[in-house]
Amino acid sequence: MNAVEIEEAISQLADQPFDPANFPYAFLEAFGNKETTIKRLRAGASNKSDLGGVLQTSNIHIKVCAEGEVTKTLAALRESPSTIRAKAKFILATDGQTLEAENLASDDSPVVCAFKDFPDHFGFFLPLAGISTVRQISENSFDIRATSRLNRLYVELLKDNPEWGTSARRHDMNHFMARLIFCFFAEDTDIFIGKGLFTDTITQMSARDSSNTNTVTEALFRAMNTKIAERDREGLPRWSNSFPYVNGGLFSGNMDVPRFSKIARSYLLHIGNLDWTKINPDIFGSMIQAVAEDEERGALGMHYTSVPNILKVLNPLCLDDLRAKLAEAGDNPRTLLNLRKRMAKIRVFDPACGSGNFLVIAYKAIREIEAEINKRRGEPEIRSEIPLTNYRGIELRDFPAEIARLALVIAEYQCDVLYRGQKLALAEFLPLRSENWITCGNALRLDWLSICPPTGTGVKVQADDLFGSPLDQAEIDFQNEGGETYICGNPPYKGSKYQSPEQKDDLKGVFKSTNAGWKSLDYVSGWLIKAKEYGHHTNSAFAFVATNSICQGIQVPELWPHLLRDNCEINFAYTSFKWSNLASNKAGVTVVIVGMSNCSRSDKRIFGTDDQGRTAVRTVQNINAYLISGPNIFIQARSSRPDNIPGMDFGNKAVDGGHLYLEREALKELPKEIINNFVRKIYGASELIKGTPRFCLWIADSEVEKAAGNTLIASRLRLVREMRLASEKIATRRGAGQPHKFEERRQRGGEEIIALPRITSENRDYLPVGLLDSHTIVSSQLFAFYNVKVFVVALLVSRLHWVWMATVCARMRTDFSYSNTLGWNTFPLPTFTEKNMADLTRCAEDILLAREHHFPASIADLYDPDAMPEDLRQAHERNDEVLERIYIGRRFKNDTERLEKLFELYTKMTKTKGAA
Ligand SMILES: C[S@@+](CC[C@H](N)C(=O)[O-])C[C@H]1O[C@@H](n2cnc3c(N)ncnc32)[C@H](O)[C@@H]1O
Repeated sequence: MNAVEIEEAISQLADQPFDPANFPYAFLEAFGNKETTIKRLRAGASNKSDLGGVLQTSNIHIKVCAEGEVTKTLAALRESPSTIRAKAKFILATDGQTLEAENLASDDSPVVCAFKDFPDHFGFFLPLAGISTVRQISENSFDIRATSRLNRLYVELLKDNPEWGTSARRHDMNHFMARLIFCFFAEDTDIFIGKGLFTDTITQMSARDSSNTNTVTEALFRAMNTKIAERDREGLPRWSNSFPYVNGGLFSGNMDVPRFSKIARSYLLHIGNLDWTKINPDIFGSMIQAVAEDEERGALGMHYTSVPNILKVLNPLCLDDLRAKLAEAGDNPRTLLNLRKRMAKIRVFDPACGSGNFLVIAYKAIREIEAEINKRRGEPEIRSEIPLTNYRGIELRDFPAEIARLALVIAEYQCDVLYRGQKLALAEFLPLRSENWITCGNALRLDWLSICPPTGTGVKVQADDLFGSPLDQAEIDFQNEGGETYICGNPPYKGSKYQSPEQKDDLKGVFKSTNAGWKSLDYVSGWLIKAKEYGHHTNSAFAFVATNSICQGIQVPELWPHLLRDNCEINFAYTSFKWSNLASNKAGVTVVIVGMSNCSRSDKRIFGTDDQGRTAVRTVQNINAYLISGPNIFIQARSSRPDNIPGMDFGNKAVDGGHLYLEREALKELPKEIINNFVRKIYGASELIKGTPRFCLWIADSEVEKAAGNTLIASRLRLVREMRLASEKIATRRGAGQPHKFEERRQRGGEEIIALPRITSENRDYLPVGLLDSHTIVSSQLFAFYNVKVFVVALLVSRLHWVWMATVCARMRTDFSYSNTLGWNTFPLPTFTEKNMADLTRCAEDILLAREHHFPASIADLYDPDAMPEDLRQAHERNDEVLERIYIGRRFKNDTERLEKLFELYTKMTKTKGAA
């Protein structure tokens, strides 16, 4: 169960009449315990309580007690020998009126609350369900609860109003949900006078059978779109007069409200009863997005970008600098004023803004700095000069775009309350502004200069509807004459294989002025190119979260020469890290952050992770496309090595429709002589790693006739011929004449083979290189060295080669896609002396011997990072020691140092031998 499901389950439990006998079991069930577990507890078999309660080993000791005895009972649970013996993490006592609980394994303060309120503390209990992101969830528990409730309402409304789920009415539905969220927030934050005004009015004025819930709601919405003086004339009911005039487009346009079932009405009232003052507009928006996406609902509330991750983009992009200027200004009123004026002109633009989390966080951070300025200048209550409309976005989907506007409006109000007090905040909040500053559209098709025009551009369209105006041009002027623009966000990553035809077209359009091979690029690169081009026209800098693949392998020479020109430089970068969210079912993608501009900065910063997992920063002179300190180079594939080190070849490519392969069953049908002469072991990637070869036919040209004398082989050759003849490829059709042969035969025979997989997992610490005997065949899933000295193994499995390969070869999700032309032919090696070669040969032999000691363990077993045998690890360590000493006379301190050295050598190597 995920956190949202648990929240729902315990909320339902708290709503039911208290059943003392059943409560402990129902509580455990709500945290995902299986029926059989509960049955065993009920039967007493696994219940270890010595107090007549329910004690689940390693989990919780619960006791329901008589009224008024809760505190005493909790003390008894704490002292109980069974609690200690069974290693219970939690104790919980309740009498159905109040509830007290303690987490014995942490310093968290205990929960003491009314019974009906215990779901408010659901985050506290989440370790019971094995959920480890408890802190994040606890901090955002309101947002999760609100999201889950709104989702239930959404789904229920669509049941009764299926037409509202169609694309024609999706916008109305989304707009309706945005209105509701606003009303819930407004009634809890005094924007509406009287706490709970909206929910109470619906409760009182709409019939219990829900027949007129929609008309009552509609009347309220219409009232909020009508000035008070005009309401009588509009025929609005008197009870709607207590609602303010809100407008701002939020309540204009189509006023339809979907029909409510009794259940939907009760959901609505339940949502209203949440405490909406606790909403985090930055988090909530991302959580709520999933409500409108059928396929996303499963992970509702779980996909959101954490604030610390967003700050990794915003801090180095602009906030660090503003804070530094604030510190420099001290109490100097003039310098403080100048800083405030500067901030008032800053624009933050997120061209894939989703529900606006980057914008909200940037806005809140800048308001915080402004508030400090105002405090130091002795004018704490002064009106904010930071225009909300300078926080601009583009978003493809309608619902997040709506929520982004709302989130910013809520953020502005919360900041006003925080820094200026509620009275002043309220005085200026309504009516809402009617400008539209979040554009719903395709960022790769829209002209950013028109959405976020350079300074001084006048108003193009003055819309009167915050939520429904034309979208393809700037609708309002910016208060940023002479100001800076910061472009930021985490645009969709999408590797080339996963892009839709429309998305490919988007990229084609963006790259049309370049000669880049855009087809291999991730979708996110379109945003980088557009942001860079935007910088030609106005004073701007940009920083995006992107997949790390754009800074590796084949994408680098395609993309980066176009980014690192016209004085555009990387000012800061975060090297690869996991961008995770709360969705436990999805591993986070590995991302980088790149911050760029055409204003050269001397203090370029690379953020990475040190050995203890902490963020470490280095100031460097230049950051290249691989996010390494060093000159701008783009590593291109080379057809051969520039030195006398052996080249790496391909494996043998069958192109046989599988007919040259033989399963063990088929082998049983063949006489021994045929097997000895024509059947070989064959290794692909998985066979090499698991040490379990398959079998294939391997027939010399001179022996085809003899082999075809066997009926099974003859039929296999016929099938290969037919398959090849039917192929569209000329080369394959040509091979039909020689069906006994792999289409590409690389192996001549008689050589010992060193092989490594084309695709290999990033989880192993060493490349899984194997030594195969001369009688085996390697398939095209492997790269191979035929008949070369074993010292090559020492180079292949080294840490230096690993970091080089990880940087310059492509990745497929969490795997490396090795390439001989990119990974091996470019790998910078020093000149080896005879002695070096002899030392390395011994290291390679030691590694192979250490593997032998553990026979029959496979490469998969031996290189399992958690179970690697110590002697093997030490043999690798020695190998790295010997090799690294040849490079620099000592071990490298870390991978960054390794890479920097390799890049330095690469530059020299290409200069002396001529660039590829
Ligand atoms: C990874 S999300 C980031 C959103 C938000 N910052 C967050 O963390 O939730 C990327 C957003 O880009 C939007 N998007 C996808 N393609 C787009 C396009 N071509 N133009 C504008 N937005 C797009 C998606 O709808 C999604 O909301």
